Amino acid sequence: MDIMNEKSVSEAIEFRRSTRLFQKKAIDENKVKECIRLATLAPTSSNMQLWEFYHVTSPEVLSQITAASFFQNAAKTANQMVVVVARKDLWKKRVQSNIDHLKSKFGDKPESEYSKRELFALNYYQKIVPTLYFDIIGILGTLKFLFFQVIGIFKPTYKETRRSDMRIVAQKSAALAAQNFMLSMAAINYDTCPMEGFDSLRIKKILDLPFSSEINMIISCGIREENGVYGERFRVPFEEVYYKL
Ligand SMILES: Cc1cc2nc3c(=O)[nH]c(=O)nc-3n(C[C@H](O)[C@H](O)[C@H](O)COP(=O)(O)O)c2cc1C
Repeated sequence: MDIMNEKSVSEAIEFRRSTRLFQKKAIDENKVKECIRLATLAPTSSNMQLWEFYHVTSPEVLSQITAASFFQNAAKTANQMVVVVARKDLWKKRVQSNIDHLKSKFGDKPESEYSKRELFALNYYQKIVPTLYFDIIGILGTLKFLFFQVIGIFKPTYKETRRSDMRIVAQKSAALAAQNFMLSMAAINYDTCPMEGFDSLRIKKILDLPFSSEINMIISCGIREENGVYGERFRVPFEEVYYKL
């Protein structure tokens, strides 16, 4: 991508608007793919990267997704779409990737020769992360939650351990990647619209995704029509959301 012609971060943030009507003009698949690569550079809880990105360019799949998104305007005219998927269910695989990565960085030596810092990092992925993610139909998560509530009376304790909490953890990071993607697109004058108005079961079926996956957002992509953005940007007064301590 030609970074010399890209907008600055603040210019891209100002430019980005949810676009409901896109021009017929095609956008470059490779540039969109590069923006997806930039999405994967977003920060992610414990570097678990519990996400996947489905880059939809096929007209047939686009129309299937449009139907599953209630034929809303942002979907109907999209030139391409990116489906951001939260994959909490892949946590064991991602733990292993992190462990493999750490071991490859530490060098080929027996564990007894690891430094304290190296052991701490390994222990984090071998013990702490699995303790957080391991659950049996939500029961273990609730027990962990109750246990940490009690510990929390005596000292600062991380308490978000229920199944629903871990879903939020995966969704949060996926949403950061989605925003990275939209801003990268904006930087090259490509428009987007994040969508959560869809039938998630139907979307999973279209993409052949397992039931355990979760659709974080569908982002329609293209170039805005002149009337493709509905009205001025509205935000509540900044003073209402800004608190200085
Ligand atoms: C998680 C999420 C889901 C959204 N879902 C939809 C949607 O289904 N359809 C739609 O037209 N816009 C959708 N939007 C766009 C919002 O309506 C839009 O971001 C908001 O009105 C602010 O406008 P702006 O993005 O142009 O600043 C969604 C935005 C977010 C962040």
